[in-house]
Amino acid sequence: MTATNIRPAEGKLGILTVGLGAVSTTFITGVLMARKGLAKPIGSMTQMDRIRVGEEALPYDCIVPMAHLDDIVFGAWDVYPANALQSALYAEVLNEKDIMPVRDELEQIRPMTAAFDRNYAKRLDGTNVKPEMTRWEMMQAIRKDIQDFRRATGVHRIVVAWAASTEIYVKPDDCVHATLAALEAAMKADDRERIAPSMCYAMAAMLEGCPFIMGAPNTTVDIPAMWELAEKTRQPIAGKDFKTGQTLVKSGFAPMLRTRCLGLRGWFSTNILGNRDGLVLDDPQNFHTKEVSKLSTLETILDGEEYPELYEDYYHKVRINYYPPRGDAKESWDNIDIFGWMNYPMQVKINFLCRDSILAAPVLLDLCLLSDLAARAGRYGIQRFLSFFLKAPMHDYRTGERPVNDLYEQYAMLKDALLEMSGYQRRK
Ligand SMILES: NC(=O)c1ccc[n+]([C@@H]2O[C@H](COP(=O)([O-])OP(=O)(O)OC[C@H]3O[C@@H](n4cnc5c(N)ncnc54)[C@H](O)[C@@H]3O)[C@@H](O)[C@H]2O)c1
Repeated sequence: MTATNIRPAEGKLGILTVGLGAVSTTFITGVLMARKGLAKPIGSMTQMDRIRVGEEALPYDCIVPMAHLDDIVFGAWDVYPANALQSALYAEVLNEKDIMPVRDELEQIRPMTAAFDRNYAKRLDGTNVKPEMTRWEMMQAIRKDIQDFRRATGVHRIVVAWAASTEIYVKPDDCVHATLAALEAAMKADDRERIAPSMCYAMAAMLEGCPFIMGAPNTTVDIPAMWELAEKTRQPIAGKDFKTGQTLVKSGFAPMLRTRCLGLRGWFSTNILGNRDGLVLDDPQNFHTKEVSKLSTLETILDGEEYPELYEDYYHKVRINYYPPRGDAKESWDNIDIFGWMNYPMQVKINFLCRDSILAAPVLLDLCLLSDLAARAGRYGIQRFLSFFLKAPMHDYRTGERPVNDLYEQYAMLKDALLEMSGYQRRK
């Protein structure tokens, strides 16, 4: 494919976030501030990274036609009625001085009513929710929201991204989630146990011609039925779970151990965080969804089957503890028990005092812009080149495909995909 096969990024790009919480408002505020030249989009690959082409290192938008920050129009759904300004202030991620210059624009972003089922996030009790309805009706109501947004704003293209709370774990079901026909039938039969509200958003988005991104660890689009829908509607999908603090470190550090053939006996990861995300994850059923996602990172990088002498039977534990005083300023500790020459033990300790939403906001921006690019390039289905941004990258587990978790391999996949879309050859 050459660059000429990519449709140009003409007109406005709508970005609809499900959830108008800490991550979404930090993302939106940062984009609005960057547009005014009052902040820099640090951490965003699409805005700051460069790829070597021949003798030059070029920014992404010199290689492929990217949507510009000035062309983005925001919208959202949330369980709480607070507008983006109120929500950004409530989240306490950004200082008021970094919010107030764009207060008028933030105030205009008022969340649409959420497609919500309290059984999926018991700790939330907002009132800005759609009335009681079946899952199928929920999906149709979301479609109407997207149509109304398109009409009201005149945007040319829309990307829908889940940046809402983590739902309780929905185990992929061999029947209901296996085919699109079975999924639709279950929605029509209002199967509330196996159809999460997030699945209604994803289906609505694709049927409305929008790429869909899953930023939480929910299994929403990680099922064959959704892959079938993505193919049928020719929409890109990406997920799951933004790769930000501890897992980013893990996926960067674990390849170092493997590259040096150092062994691993155990990796204990613990976190404290005090934002609303932490509150929802304090419920064991919601935490389980996150745990499954976070645990998967090491398995494919430090593989006991491939390197039994180094990585067989290591102990891997992940804990997340809700600790209100911390707010969004998460702290993580990793204790890594490794061994070297003649089995001698050593330890590595990593203490990351990060800011969750400061790391997640640029990831959300990049996922949206690159999903829009993928759609214009005619790519659909699982977007593996976006694995770089995700904690538990989607892959077709039916075929035995293994996800790529190694940060450097993921980065190579990202660059290769962009160069392939552009028609440039990668410099060996
Ligand atoms: N911050 C990070 O570094 C990070 C990293 C990876 C993943 N995530 C995930 O991103 C998501 C958002 O994180 P956050 O810190 O912004 O959380 P948050 O609690 O501040 O915001 C989430 C918002 O989603 C809303 N919501 C919940 N269910 C909804 C529904 N069905 N429809 C519409 N809105 C709904 C909630 O009311 C809340 O305002 C979480 O699932 C989190 O696990 C965050």
